Amino acid sequence: MQFKASQRIAQVGQKYLAIQQKQIRSLEKQGMKVINLGRGNPDQPTFPQIVAKAKSELEQPQNYGYPPYGGNENLKAAIRKFYAAEYQVTLAADEVTVFSGSTAALTALPMALANSGDVILTPDPAFFGYHIGITMSGATEWRMPLLAENNYLPDLSLIPPEIAQKAKLMFLNYPHNPTGAGATSEFFERVAAFGLQHKIAIVHDFAYADLSFAKPAPSFLQSRRAKETGIEIYTLSKTFNMAGWRCAFAVGNASIIKLLKTYIQNSVGGTFNVVQNAGSFALLSQKKQRQKLRALYSKRRSVMRVLEENGFAVAHSAGTFFSWVRLPATIKDERQFAAELLKQKQVAVVPGSAFGKNGQGYFRISLVTSTAVLLTGCKRIVEFVKDYHEGSGQFD
Ligand SMILES: Cc1ncc(COP(=O)(O)O)c(C=O)c1O
Repeated sequence: MQFKASQRIAQVGQKYLAIQQKQIRSLEKQGMKVINLGRGNPDQPTFPQIVAKAKSELEQPQNYGYPPYGGNENLKAAIRKFYAAEYQVTLAADEVTVFSGSTAALTALPMALANSGDVILTPDPAFFGYHIGITMSGATEWRMPLLAENNYLPDLSLIPPEIAQKAKLMFLNYPHNPTGAGATSEFFERVAAFGLQHKIAIVHDFAYADLSFAKPAPSFLQSRRAKETGIEIYTLSKTFNMAGWRCAFAVGNASIIKLLKTYIQNSVGGTFNVVQNAGSFALLSQKKQRQKLRALYSKRRSVMRVLEENGFAVAHSAGTFFSWVRLPATIKDERQFAAELLKQKQVAVVPGSAFGKNGQGYFRISLVTSTAVLLTGCKRIVEFVKDYHEGSGQFD
């Protein structure tokens, strides 16, 4: 028997990366070797000391039961210490909650804070994770354009007053996936003032907090009165190469934290104590390893010079493990470009419009593969575009 999706799920649609993964698997079945510069899964292992800590935690029978909702005391204390040390932000006990990966929280927030007819503000282009909870909650999404000329920061003055009035939530994410742009403290000050003025819950997704190259990325909670209007979501996935462990947390406004915790408690449940205790150890120890990881991504980013030397404009990235590349003006359709590049040169990239309409004309490269593979991938992209220009100016 085949069951039908509910309207809620039917509206969600398939993610671009899931579709691309299927295409890659199909090419690989045909014996082709694909250079995957599409997905954003850290390629390096979790730092060994964290793995060792988890192994010893696994030996402790008290870790096997249901974990406390919202995080165990060990991890919550580590989070408070971490925010004090890294960002000089003091957090009270009710300003912290833990969950199994930030994706769950991004989906939970609209469900916990918005009703049908409310507006939720999102960046465009943006990570796929914000739209699903919004769709399921019945709220309306209003996309804030992020443009190169404004350093990929939204222009808050362009949000119409009637939209701001109906808005319940605003999602932001810096360092930004997919453009690599960073935010400034001045920008966050303006966001906090805007949130307070319009009673909007600001949700800053800080997934790439630690992958910031020239200077540390500012935390939203460092800005004046930020805690009165918003929260920050931090995941261990990228900072410690712990994507598969599913460990993340939110900090900030106590009332938002409480609503988020209620939703998570009743849906996803708690996070395995072994993971929480390993996470707590990670937050309080791995400074050197984190520095080395940043240096590795920074080195990989420098491979993009090959594209620049061949006429591509690569956006200056403040952080993340992504590069945001402008297509030559002669190529109008980035989706077709990505599809043909995969088919003809076996290189997977994500077309910018998969992140929203303001991504048109761009594509995203992930730096989660070795410099050698990245270099080969970039050379194939250059060759592909050269063939295109020397040929009929059409994909065949
Ligand atoms: C901007 C952004 N937010 C959140 C996530 C999800 O992180 P997590 O592993 O905690 O679910 C990602 C993952 O790619 C991301 O790019």
